Amino acid sequence: MAVRWRLCIAVFSVAVMTMFAAAQEQKPAVKHAAAPQTSAASGKEMFMAYCASCHGTDAKGDGPAATALKDAPADLTALAKTNGGKYPSDKVMSVLRGQANLAAHGTQEMPVWGKVFWKMSQGHEGEVQQRVGNLSHYIESLQVK
Ligand code: HEC
Repeated sequence: MAVRWRLCIAVFSVAVMTMFAAAQEQKPAVKHAAAPQTSAASGKEMFMAYCASCHGTDAKGDGPAATALKDAPADLTALAKTNGGKYPSDKVMSVLRGQANLAAHGTQEMPVWGKVFWKMSQGHEGEVQQRVGNLSHYIESLQVK
C-alpha cells in the first residue's frame, strides 16, 4: 500500500511537469507556468482541472493520461464501496496534502497537490484546507453505492 502511494504521488509530479511544459510551449512568455487557477470553492472545477486527466471526468480512472501510466489511476467513485460503505474523507485529504505516507517512508518527498495549492494561495492555510476539503467533498458526491 505504501509503495503504491509513493508511486502515485511521483506520477502526479510527472503530470504536473508535463502540463507546465505544454503551457510553456504555447505561451513562451510564461516562464514559470503554474497549474491553472481555479476557484477554491468549486471541488468540481478543481477536479476537472487537476485530476480528470488521469482519473477521468467521471472519476472512474479512465482519463486520457491513464494509458501512459503503469498503474491505472484509481476509480475514485468506488472509494466508499471498497471501504465498507464509508467514504474515507480523512484518507483522501491526507493523500491530497501529501501526508498519507509519512510514517511509512519517513520523508515527505513529494506531496505535490498540497504544495501546488499552497503556492497558489500564497501560503494561506485556510485556502489550502478549503481546496482539499472541497475536492474531497466533490469526490464524495460521486460515490457509487
Ligand atoms: C498523473 C495522473 C494522476 C493525476 C493527475 C491524479 N491522480 Fe490520483 N491517482 C493516480 C494513480 C495512478 C493512482 C494510484 C492507483 C493505485 O495505486 O491504486 C491514484 C490514486 C488516487 C487516490 C487514492 C485512491 C484509493 O484507492 O485509495 C486518490 C484519492 C486520488 N488519486 C485523488 C486524486 C485527486 C483528487 C486528484 C486531483 C487533485 C488526482 N488524484 C490526480 C493518478 C493520478
